[in-house]
Amino acid sequence: MKLNRFAQSGNWILDRFPLAQLWNDHMAHYYAPKNFNIWYFFGSLALLVMVNQFATGILLTMNYKPDAKLAFDSVEYIMRDVNWGWLIRYMHSTGASAFFIVVYLHMFRGIMYGSFKQPRELIWIFGMLIFVCLMAEAFMGYLLPWGQMSYWGAQVIISLFSAIPVIGDDLSLWVRGDYVVSDATLNRFFAFHVIAVPLVLVMLVFMHIVALHEVGSNNPDGIDIKKLKDVNGIPLDGIPFHPYYTVKDLFGVGVFLIFFTTVIFYMPEMGGYFLEHANFIPADPMKTPEHIAPVWYFTPFYAILRAIPDKFAGVIGMGGAIVVLFLLPWLDRNPVRSIRYRGGLYKKALLLFIISFVSLGYLGTQPATPTATLFARIFTAVYFGFFLLMPLYTRWEKTKPVPKRVTDHHSLLEDIEEQLPLIIEEMTELKPDRPEIGDAAFRGSFYSRRAKLGGVRHVATRLANSIKKSLD
Ligand code: HEM
Repeated sequence: MKLNRFAQSGNWILDRFPLAQLWNDHMAHYYAPKNFNIWYFFGSLALLVMVNQFATGILLTMNYKPDAKLAFDSVEYIMRDVNWGWLIRYMHSTGASAFFIVVYLHMFRGIMYGSFKQPRELIWIFGMLIFVCLMAEAFMGYLLPWGQMSYWGAQVIISLFSAIPVIGDDLSLWVRGDYVVSDATLNRFFAFHVIAVPLVLVMLVFMHIVALHEVGSNNPDGIDIKKLKDVNGIPLDGIPFHPYYTVKDLFGVGVFLIFFTTVIFYMPEMGGYFLEHANFIPADPMKTPEHIAPVWYFTPFYAILRAIPDKFAGVIGMGGAIVVLFLLPWLDRNPVRSIRYRGGLYKKALLLFIISFVSLGYLGTQPATPTATLFARIFTAVYFGFFLLMPLYTRWEKTKPVPKRVTDHHSLLEDIEEQLPLIIEEMTELKPDRPEIGDAAFRGSFYSRRAKLGGVRHVATRLANSIKKSLD
């Protein structure tokens, strides 16, 4: 009888709200390609990190004071006196970096498998808008602890607006609400960071997923699974998202949490990359830090800004580096989506792009010496070359035949992951631990693994050959 009432109340809701239909349309009867690999973890991980940021952000707001006189101390108060405050703060600060790691890998997956191409251009555009929002959110959040780097980072970036001809000075004054970064700036950044940008972000993520479910997911083979269906209209190469991918994504969450919690509990500052050392000193408008550098996730774009000698041209270059990413669906002229079946020309161009992006990221953390600037200029040229020459080399490249059905083809990374125990075995050897000490009875009983030069050389040669082969 009791159960019946419970079931009845369920029906009462279902008669008024299409919960079951939503569940079926987007989970239980949503057919995703059956060949998703580890690169497909990052979308659900981005969702997880976003929820973490919201939950910890709300808790931080309960004790944070958006006031130039109180902000720094209120963060210290959270760290020292609020119950579990240190954990909440580290979850939020580590979450910010994790968000960018996950999103950069998610974007790279999209580029590798051509997920931005027809018919998924809008998914990509929504994704890029999310990326811009995320950068705004991180930039404004970074001012809130009111440390030296918060203050001077904001000062440098907002003053970039003044490089715009005619309206520049007024614009930067308008953004700051004062002649220098001040309490007024802190207050408005707080409002944007806590409510305005997160609202837009959630809306965009919703539209990103609606657009994705309209056309369906791409896959590592880049083929259209909707072309081949069984008599019931179910794609032959599709499997229901729930339970198959809910369970698979949960495994991804487990692995992610191992890394995430290790950083939170053992290295929350991550050597000054996740929380910069200078930010543990309260903001001092009278004292500029010796070396101002943004947090690591902005450094590729910061390096482009510094590489260009003219300030305004630098601002255009930095903005242009993001704008070209929006244009990707129209710059790539090759109909083949996945890297697996693309020509060597594209693969080499992508490899050069990755090298230049990572190098720019590194150079952005370093002082702008003449040598560093020279390299930053070369990598900036490669970065833009990848995009601007794309309409040409994607037309010239010779692609491989694309299969009709999804394959169980393994990428180089997956091969390495599968053979990891064997590779470790080959590169190392067990040696007795310090045989000269200890009791004779125990001598030779303790072993540790040491690197084996010959094995390392073998593995490195094999890896180099595999990379060379996969670039053909
Ligand atoms: C808050 C940030 C984001 C969240 C929560 C998010 C979420 C998701 C989810 C859940 C999926 C489906 C699962 C998957 O394919 O991994 C997805 C797919 C996709 N996302 Fe995102 N995303 C975010 C940011 C971005 C960004 C910045 C881009 C690129 C500019 C992007 C581009 C794509 C593309 C192209 C797909 C389709 C992939 C395919 O079908 O192969 N996303 N996203």
